[in-house]
Amino acid sequence: MRERFRIYGGARLAGEVAVVGAKNSALKLMAAALLAEGRTTLTNVPAIADVTIMAQLLRSLGVDVDYDPDSGVVVLDVPETVGHRADYRLVRALRASISVLGPLVARTGEADVAVPGGDAIGSRGLDLHAAGLEALGASVHVSHGYLVAAAPHGLSGTEIRLEFPSVGATENILTAAVLARGRTVIDNAAREPEIEDLADLLVGMGAQVTGAGTSCIVVDGVEVLKPTTHAVVPDRIAAGTWAFAAATTRGDIEVLGGRADHLRAPLAALERAGCTVEVTGRGFRVAAGPGRLAAFDVATLPYPGFPTDLQPFAIAYNAVASGSAMVTENLFEARFRTVQELARLGADAQVDGHHVMVHGVPILSGAPVESSDIRSGAALVIAGLVAEGETLVSGVHHIDRGYPRFEEALRGLGADVSREPDEDLWED
Ligand code: UD1
Repeated sequence: MRERFRIYGGARLAGEVAVVGAKNSALKLMAAALLAEGRTTLTNVPAIADVTIMAQLLRSLGVDVDYDPDSGVVVLDVPETVGHRADYRLVRALRASISVLGPLVARTGEADVAVPGGDAIGSRGLDLHAAGLEALGASVHVSHGYLVAAAPHGLSGTEIRLEFPSVGATENILTAAVLARGRTVIDNAAREPEIEDLADLLVGMGAQVTGAGTSCIVVDGVEVLKPTTHAVVPDRIAAGTWAFAAATTRGDIEVLGGRADHLRAPLAALERAGCTVEVTGRGFRVAAGPGRLAAFDVATLPYPGFPTDLQPFAIAYNAVASGSAMVTENLFEARFRTVQELARLGADAQVDGHHVMVHGVPILSGAPVESSDIRSGAALVIAGLVAEGETLVSGVHHIDRGYPRFEEALRGLGADVSREPDEDLWED
């Protein structure tokens, strides 16, 4: 059944909200469990649909997965022999399924992983993933919609320089290299905290990895890895969402479990715009100053730059800020779906190539809007909070992919938000 959020604007969000483990780490850690026979336990796993899909994919490969969304614990019992085919049906539902590629080639010497379709935020290649595995000695080709990788005699370490610090490619090369013969150096590696988290898990499994979190990762392959227990790194994008929610609604939110050191670029921008940002013993707090906050320019970049996943929130923020701002998207093409929906709420924003020019208005005006992906959906909800009257945000299933019980967290901060069935004209 389709659902939507009904939002009445006007509240300044205030209070505490907790963030749990990062979606974009938990999924990769689950895939990496394939590298070791036995029971790997992950804690602090978010209660979101994507985890259920990844669990399904791993089960299809022979893994016994026990996932308890309430406690946030996933136990993965990996058999001695695992399958090697990731079905299109599952990969289509979850693009992050591609992260089984590295572990499968390393562990079984072969992997057939369906090539994911776009997930409505622009085209995303797999060329760097494929080139990395080829450099490690695997043969890689695409056949009938599947990326087929084979390394019947195992992988061999080498030096790989990534043309672009792709998060997914860095992860697949890293998870393949840990069982390769000899040393692998990944140069121009992605530096996201989720990469460090993955490396921490791998080291806990007995892998030899140094430099994760910098642009040069060095891996000395080992023969076998053992299962371990690991807590997922807190979700910096969820934490950043709450930081923008505080600023946009001119509120005051303490993000429990939030890591300010993983959000330096966005928090510095909010501070310059007039917010107080404070690291507390339990996380961090963002409090808006009096009056309208200042508009600010944003250009998304690989970590530690401004995260592309927070870009829709920056647009929603600037839509009601004082002044004008340019928001530039450097990572993904066509990732501006928030803009046309924000315009329905009365925002003054125009797309020009990979830029959006936003002129702040004092208040938005409630209307029905449609979310098209996780972040743009959550950004529209925040925009609804600074819109006069009622806003209906359809496509809640997108938001549920990234934010466990989003409306409950918002209500805890004083928002008037409810979930209800959506009317669907196509249903009969
Ligand atoms: C991950 C995150 C996503 C985030 C992104 C950038 C997950 C599940 N998703 O996606 O939320 O927005 O990092 O921080 O963790 N590219 C190529 N060839 C490749 C690989 C990537 O050209 O082989 C390009 C893509 O088209 C894109 C850019 O590199 O333009 C960034 O992609 P990448 O860093 O790989 O992001 P993901 O790992 O897909």
